[in-house]
Amino acid sequence: MIEKEKNHTVKFSEINKLNLTDFRNHNFTSISSNNKFISIVGANGSGKTNILEAISMFTPGKGMRGAQLADLSNISGKGGWSVFMEVSSCYGTTKLGTGISNIGIKNGNSRQCRIDGKSTNSPKSFANSIGVIWLTPQMDGLFVGGRSERRKFFDKLVALIEPNHSDNIKNYERIIAQRNKVLYNSDNLSSKLLDNLERQLAKIAASILISRQIAVNQINHIMIRDVSNNLFPSAEIIMREELGSLSKDCTISEMEEDFSKILCVNRKKDKMTYRTNIGPHRTDFTLWYKRNDMYAENCSTGEQKNLLISLILAQARVYQMNNQGISPILLLDEITAHLDMERINNLFDQIFTLGSQVWLTGTKIELFDYIHSKSDFFNINNGKLTQIEY
Ligand SMILES: Nc1ncnc2c1ncn2[C@@H]1O[C@H](COP(=O)(O)OP(=O)(O)OP(=O)(O)O)[C@@H](O)[C@H]1O
Ligand SMILES: [Mg+2]
Repeated sequence: MIEKEKNHTVKFSEINKLNLTDFRNHNFTSISSNNKFISIVGANGSGKTNILEAISMFTPGKGMRGAQLADLSNISGKGGWSVFMEVSSCYGTTKLGTGISNIGIKNGNSRQCRIDGKSTNSPKSFANSIGVIWLTPQMDGLFVGGRSERRKFFDKLVALIEPNHSDNIKNYERIIAQRNKVLYNSDNLSSKLLDNLERQLAKIAASILISRQIAVNQINHIMIRDVSNNLFPSAEIIMREELGSLSKDCTISEMEEDFSKILCVNRKKDKMTYRTNIGPHRTDFTLWYKRNDMYAENCSTGEQKNLLISLILAQARVYQMNNQGISPILLLDEITAHLDMERINNLFDQIFTLGSQVWLTGTKIELFDYIHSKSDFFNINNGKLTQIEY
């Protein structure tokens, strides 16, 4: 396991062995590698993304597709699935496992998680051994899609820097839902219950706003200093907040008090609209693309992809800074789509400098020419994997 220490030089962490059992279209797939780059090549529907998804299960939540546990079981298998990996770092080797049995799925159980043979309560514990960051084609529409997906993505970035942020968001959303329900179901707009809920909301809202500000400043700084060059653009995260008259230029207690008052004043309107109209749950994010002098949503498809890559690279650097210099594992699904060859190669250079192990997928092996001496190559056909020379 990775022990905390104060040395901030870059340290490696890589998956040396990965086994998928009855996971999606993989009956049994085993990959061993000591390389920094692992390139998986195959036709559409062969099982490439499923391998990346299996790795993403070593993070809290439902993995990179947000799938239900039952959907991950191979439909021709016995029900149930498991993924096992060996992760090596400068601190030694750790064995991680996760999965669920057929009975577990039927009983609605959570998936099981093991570290070095010992059960742990939740996939949160894997964070001590591995960090995983992904970029998938589904994320291409991030800047033009719905704002709640975008907010979730940005809040995950914030949580890398401010560890309490995820719990704050969860609690805040729970209390917002409670407030909306109370407003909707009651004609008494001056109840003690509402006072109490709004006081709790104001306290958490102030922490959320401050955490976001700290993280956005840090990520923006990293994007300018470490990531942007002529090929990957310099961009700045912009928050579009709906805070009414709430000012952030004051002390935390003043902010809490002001937000509490704003919520109280808005009760009537919020009841009528059946939502809380003002607060950090309404914040939207975008990127300002400096070269084009415009917001990300107006940029071309390729430019949006480049902006997303800048953001992911910044995310990886932030992870390193907050994890004693250990580099996260990157999962880049179909990363070469929309990128010209020069940018693909520049991205590979940046990843190499970062020191991360990266798992890549693609339909054509030629796209990985530039890294042929640094990568292990695997071909996949209908869920069957073979290592190939390239
Ligand atoms: N539970 C499951 N059991 C068996 N097969 C599944 C299951 N879930 C998904 N599949 C199948 O797995 C196959 C491979 O999916 P995957 O997304 O990994 O393909 P891919 O190689 O990434 O393809 P593309 O190049 O189109 O992205 C698909 O044909 C899909 O229908
Ligand atoms: Mg795919």
